[in-house]
Amino acid sequence: MTLTFPGETPTLRRAVPATTPWWRDAVVYQVYLRSFADADGDGIGDLAGLRARLDYIAALGVDAIWLNPCYPSPQADHGYDIADYLDIDPAYGDLSTFEALQKEARDRGLRVLMDLVPNHCSIAHPWFVAALAAGPGSPERAKFHFVGGRGWRGNRPPNNWRSVFGGPAWTRVTEPDGKPGQWYLHLFDSTQPDFNWQHPEVADYFDEVLRFWFDRGVEGFRIDVAHGMAKHPTLANWRHPRKYNAHMFNRPEVHAVHRRWRALVDSYRPARELTLVGEIWVPAVAELARYLRPDELRQAFFFDLLTQPWNAAKMRSAIQSGLDNIASTGATVTWVLSNHDVHRTVTRYGQEQPTKTPDPSALIEVTRNRGPVDVQLGTARAGAGILLLLALPGSVYLYQGEELGLPEVLDLPDEVRQDPIWRRSTGTKHGRDGCRVPLPWAAAEPTFGFSLNHAAGGAPAEPWLPQPDWFAGCAVDVQQERPDSMLALYRQALACRRELWAGDAELTWDDRLDRADLLVLTRGSARAVVAFGPDPVELPAELGEIVLASVPMTGRTLPGNAAAWLRS
Ligand code: NOJ
Repeated sequence: MTLTFPGETPTLRRAVPATTPWWRDAVVYQVYLRSFADADGDGIGDLAGLRARLDYIAALGVDAIWLNPCYPSPQADHGYDIADYLDIDPAYGDLSTFEALQKEARDRGLRVLMDLVPNHCSIAHPWFVAALAAGPGSPERAKFHFVGGRGWRGNRPPNNWRSVFGGPAWTRVTEPDGKPGQWYLHLFDSTQPDFNWQHPEVADYFDEVLRFWFDRGVEGFRIDVAHGMAKHPTLANWRHPRKYNAHMFNRPEVHAVHRRWRALVDSYRPARELTLVGEIWVPAVAELARYLRPDELRQAFFFDLLTQPWNAAKMRSAIQSGLDNIASTGATVTWVLSNHDVHRTVTRYGQEQPTKTPDPSALIEVTRNRGPVDVQLGTARAGAGILLLLALPGSVYLYQGEELGLPEVLDLPDEVRQDPIWRRSTGTKHGRDGCRVPLPWAAAEPTFGFSLNHAAGGAPAEPWLPQPDWFAGCAVDVQQERPDSMLALYRQALACRRELWAGDAELTWDDRLDRADLLVLTRGSARAVVAFGPDPVELPAELGEIVLASVPMTGRTLPGNAAAWLRS
């Protein structure tokens, strides 16, 4: 039997269900486990560390956590290269630690989401190991994309596709007889071979993976590269190898996979409302909406806001386009300003703001600029940005450390960099290590409290990425004492959101202040004002009572690069 790709279903307008499923307006905290908290002092975050810090997450006031991949993995791309989808990496714990985490999270009202990586696995996955051993033409190789090369003796890659991390998307293997042989496809690193989703066993395998974790209480998955599983049927050359490659991504056939998973997720209803949230990079929001049709994903990150510069008109137009395109599917928008793949907001908003609209192939690149940073300005804007984000109708995903206002660590020494982007770009791109530096919990403790074992007299190893000295000023225990800290703002904003911005009330823009550097949005009786420029703004009494502001206000004067929430 082969996997069939039924015809497309049209985008349907669907009424919002009478009872709102939890994920429609949930705030989800992203835990990059490796960098969150380390219980055993080996310098790598782990599940026991997360368990020890669960109260911190619960006190933030979020609804759920999303764990980046924590399955057994050689860690070539820090968990996005999976060797076993049905277990926990021993560096992070084991299945019983995971069960305990789930129970403790549930006790605190936190749901647990995992990360599913269906486009590719690790070269250490048993299927790939078997495929290498079995040789060309074998059934084992059919689960991946193994093809002969072009040119003299097949020594050129089968087509012109480029890896997202740099270099060709193909690597040649040495066959069991010791001779150079076929090539295999990898959209990312050469340690991450792409599955062949035309193969029925691949689809069956992922059904089993989803059920395995759902049956253990997991309440959803973030789907890695959810637009990537289907490839052009003949693996034809792409006409612009360095541009967005529509032969590798966003193929119409990929929607069949999402329909299949949606049916699986729905089979748990009505007892359980599970979610799948797609990581999908597409050139147009209308394309994103296609993944949210009523029989596909429930959620998909809306990256168009994340890629905007700090600019009122651009942010407004991105928000409106998200609302227009996505609301028509019946889904809510899943807002996000930060994650483990992009520079932190303080850094992005503290740099010179790009003015050019990026090419679709370079969307994520604009989030990793390296220029000088005005940290104070970036911090002010990041604080205003979170008030904008939390005022929007829909769900919000927050990346760990953003609540501490951590800037990106831009000056990691080259020799400690671990991101495969650094290696594959031959050192021309720094990659993503700077937003993955282990969190500072306690200013005066070794490893700033990231490793917890020293309390019991242990000497912690160096964290897997070095923390800069200035992390001390951002530590949780410092911010906890300060009512004007970013952490205090997040806590207040998250508590306030539940009441002020609850429900699906429609967003309207209020232009009465008539200034191009301001956004004023209203939902029900709540209002948010965001000042994108340096100039302060006097908030007229008719806008309502001020409930919260991203910076201390004198009277009704909102400073520039700040935001306020009001209620009438
Ligand atoms: C997207 C993930 O967010 C990123 O961290 C990873 O490197 C790639 N997908 C490949 O899995």
